[in-house]
Amino acid sequence: MAPDVAVIGLGRIGLPLAISFADRGLRVLGIDKDAERLQAVRDARMPFDEPGAQQALERVSATGSLDVSGRVGEAAAAEHIVVTLGTPSFSHVEIDISDIRSALDDLLGHLRDGHTIVLRSTIAPGTTDFVAGYLTKHRGFEIGVDVFVAHAPERIAAGRFFEEIGTLPCIVGGVGEQSGERVGALFAIFGAPIVQTTPAQAELAKIWTNILRYANFALPNLLMMDCEQHGANVFDVIELINRDYPRGGIALPGLTGGTCLRKDFAFSEERSNAPGMLLAVSRVNESVPLFLVEGLKRRIGSLTGRKVAVLGLAFKGNTDDERDSLAHKLVRLLERELADVAVHDPRVATPTPPFEEAVAGADAIVLAANHDEFCGPRALRLIGELAARDALVVDPWNCFGAAQVFAYASELSALCDERVALP
Ligand SMILES: NC(=O)c1ccc[n+]([C@@H]2O[C@H](COP(=O)([O-])OP(=O)(O)OC[C@H]3O[C@@H](n4cnc5c(N)ncnc54)[C@H](O)[C@@H]3O)[C@@H](O)[C@H]2O)c1
Repeated sequence: MAPDVAVIGLGRIGLPLAISFADRGLRVLGIDKDAERLQAVRDARMPFDEPGAQQALERVSATGSLDVSGRVGEAAAAEHIVVTLGTPSFSHVEIDISDIRSALDDLLGHLRDGHTIVLRSTIAPGTTDFVAGYLTKHRGFEIGVDVFVAHAPERIAAGRFFEEIGTLPCIVGGVGEQSGERVGALFAIFGAPIVQTTPAQAELAKIWTNILRYANFALPNLLMMDCEQHGANVFDVIELINRDYPRGGIALPGLTGGTCLRKDFAFSEERSNAPGMLLAVSRVNESVPLFLVEGLKRRIGSLTGRKVAVLGLAFKGNTDDERDSLAHKLVRLLERELADVAVHDPRVATPTPPFEEAVAGADAIVLAANHDEFCGPRALRLIGELAARDALVVDPWNCFGAAQVFAYASELSALCDERVALP
């Protein structure tokens, strides 16, 4: 039987989406060029971590409602074609839509009246109109009448897919008369509110959702560096800013990376009215690893031949996603200081030695991702027992609750106890 919906690109966004459509009773065809990924789905085995996905994949595999294929052209068997391909950024400050163009070229000859194409990927303003124009130019379709095209951006955070698919308002920007309506009807299956708008507004709303987060995190990161310059404690200053103040608050510092935040701002920067403003935001976040390495050197001297344990390779806490993680940049910078770097991350696919081995005899320990495994007294106790005497702990996330970016392991337990005792 023909599928109801095809999802092209079974990545971190496409696969949970395909599973969710199938779990709601639609017949779904998932398409990807990666043969290993297709085999994993056929075996009902999630290729990455996403809470709730494994159970849902097993459910839809049992009912046979999710099928997979490696051929993009087969998507045309479904009325609705949802594109969830990657949209990286070139280093030229420009969106790279080559995967989307390649999928469109594969689809062109198969499209017919009545098809709906949904761009779920994050895209630069104007891309939805480009896709509509491409179909008109090459096939003569009137968009919104013969074939329907809309942008329905994904705004779910990694790790929260199954919780947020049914709650986050689904923004839909359709081209022409009926595109928005048709795509809204498809996504209404998830039960979240559907918000209709224009394609450009949908594109802007998505990228500015991420720009807001990226800039929000740059502020405490810059403040952390300013505090170092002035001998102040960033966590104390943040507490002073936020405590009982009714007009918003400042976020906490950390290593701000990941595949979305690191590139989506460039989609606005392509045609910016304030060229450089968002590049500066990016530069602040990108400089955090160097700031941590320089802070280490100021306190313990040359890192040549010193053992530094880096805890966490993922781009943020409690995920196995290492793409565009600043932890990798941190490791590279430490290696350029000729430090002996030992890495531990219990969640990522990259194999790493156990926690105990990584911290044993370490002169410094850097918390690069705030995984639950690292936060709290157990990890701190092990560091106290296994690391070098007077090892320096670098904790920009405040995993240990001592509210110190740089502190000696010997002081940390006492500082944590003091903080707990505070009113
Ligand atoms: N990851 C997130 O948390 C997140 C959140 C919101 C939005 N987005 C956006 O969603 C889009 C997808 O992101 P992702 O993280 O899922 O990407 P991804 O890299 O995990 O997935 C892309 C998938 O597409 C496949 N692919 C690439 N080219 C193909 C082709 N020509 N034909 C068939 N398959 C092909 C790849 O093998 C891969 O499995 C991006 O635009 C991203 O910015 C991602």
